[in-house]
Amino acid sequence: EEHNQNIEKDKTDTVKEHTKKTFKHAKFTKKASVSNFSHSLLSVTLKGHSGKVLGLDVSINGKYMASSSDDRSVRLWSVKDFGAGNKCVRVNVEFDHARFARFSPDSRAFIAGLAVENTVRVFKLGKNNDGVTTCIPIEGDFVKYNHGGSFVMTAYKNTTIMVRNLKGDILHTINTNQGNNNYAAVSPCGRFVASCGWTPDVKVWAVNFTRSGEYKDVTRAFELKGHTTTVWSFDFNNDSTRQDGVNKILFFRMVTVSKDGSWRFYDTGVEYEKGQEPYLLHTGEFHISDCSIDKDFCIVALSPDARVVAVACMNNIIVFSTASGLMEVEFKEVHTEIITALIFDIAGRYILSSGDKHVRVFHNVLGYKETIRELEEKIRPIPSASSVRERYQKQVDEAKKSLNAILK
Ligand SMILES: *[C@@H]1O[C@H](CO)[C@@H](O)[C@H](O)[C@H]1NC(C)=O
Ligand SMILES: *[C@@H]1O[C@H](CO)[C@@H](O)[C@H](O)[C@H]1NC(C)=O
Ligand SMILES: *[C@@H]1O[C@H](CO)[C@@H](O)[C@H](O)[C@H]1NC(C)=O
Repeated sequence: EEHNQNIEKDKTDTVKEHTKKTFKHAKFTKKASVSNFSHSLLSVTLKGHSGKVLGLDVSINGKYMASSSDDRSVRLWSVKDFGAGNKCVRVNVEFDHARFARFSPDSRAFIAGLAVENTVRVFKLGKNNDGVTTCIPIEGDFVKYNHGGSFVMTAYKNTTIMVRNLKGDILHTINTNQGNNNYAAVSPCGRFVASCGWTPDVKVWAVNFTRSGEYKDVTRAFELKGHTTTVWSFDFNNDSTRQDGVNKILFFRMVTVSKDGSWRFYDTGVEYEKGQEPYLLHTGEFHISDCSIDKDFCIVALSPDARVVAVACMNNIIVFSTASGLMEVEFKEVHTEIITALIFDIAGRYILSSGDKHVRVFHNVLGYKETIRELEEKIRPIPSASSVRERYQKQVDEAKKSLNAILK
């Protein structure tokens, strides 16, 4: 209960008018202040942090979004209540700040990568007496609860990635041999770790556990190739089953973004144990002039259903269809500074970004449109008066209803 002082339910003070800042970055000095940013597809701006938001993540159960900031707090937002008064739970990060927060696969805890101490702190989600979700830091140990087959990945700017158990002990050290690490991530299914760096590829490893949950080994799985230079970032879909309204389809997809000015969309659901390589499904281009070559970074995000890819360059976001490769919409000057994080929520309804004190939440309109288009294509050859057709039609109607509500 002593932890409770760390937690304060926060109905978030109205944020004071943004004062204009001078930016270190030359390209930014001519950009407008964010306070007048508006867009018809902007659902809500989440206000509450008093410092720059550095990272965003959503829990796989779809309920929570975590934003970490250099104001020494992580805030937990209810995805369902976006827009309902900016309600969030504030979690203090004592004596430090979290560069990022990542939920555990069971959505019951999150880890925070601490900037100053360069360590990982674990926070467990709980409920207080009013049934409100709170977070309790687990003192001392890395993670106290024990799950077989669980691990934590820590990646460093040099070519090192460490796979650790939940106590923080190193199980395996990977040398990525990619010159440096630009980005690394664990797949949502928790079976793979991947990294990209100075080289034009993404490397993926399988982390193996025995049936009883004992750590076994880390083995090379596959690589994503085809870019001509440095890969900045990549993303996975929610790698599980896609519910298309009638059938469940197992599918694995990844997307990459590179300094060569393109993103590449791959089918990674291959039998790599038999030497099969992932294959390219689509690729698209963005204007590198919108990006800062000297800053050297763009972020890519793939919607959980893999229908939509979003690329953040500088303070702009470009949204593409993975089916056609075509650009759908561009959000310009979304933040006053370079975008630090870009994600979709698990249901694929929103695109979220951070870059200054605020979190922008956009409607993923393309996601609805692509769902409708795909379902209508499926329906066409199905005889009328069939129950399958009816079920697809119901999905189409629901998606159209949601889309119309947004566009109104
Ligand atoms: C990379 O950095 C980590 C963390 O500082 C360190 O433990 C590791 O030894 C470094 N690896 C190399 C190859 O220098
Ligand atoms: C995301 O994947 C997890 C497991 O990998 C699954 O339990 C969950 O239902 C998926 N969510 C969606 C929206 O597809
Ligand atoms: C490691 O795990 C992967 C993915 O689960 C599996 O395909 C592979 O066969 C495993 N390798 C070993 C040596 O167990």
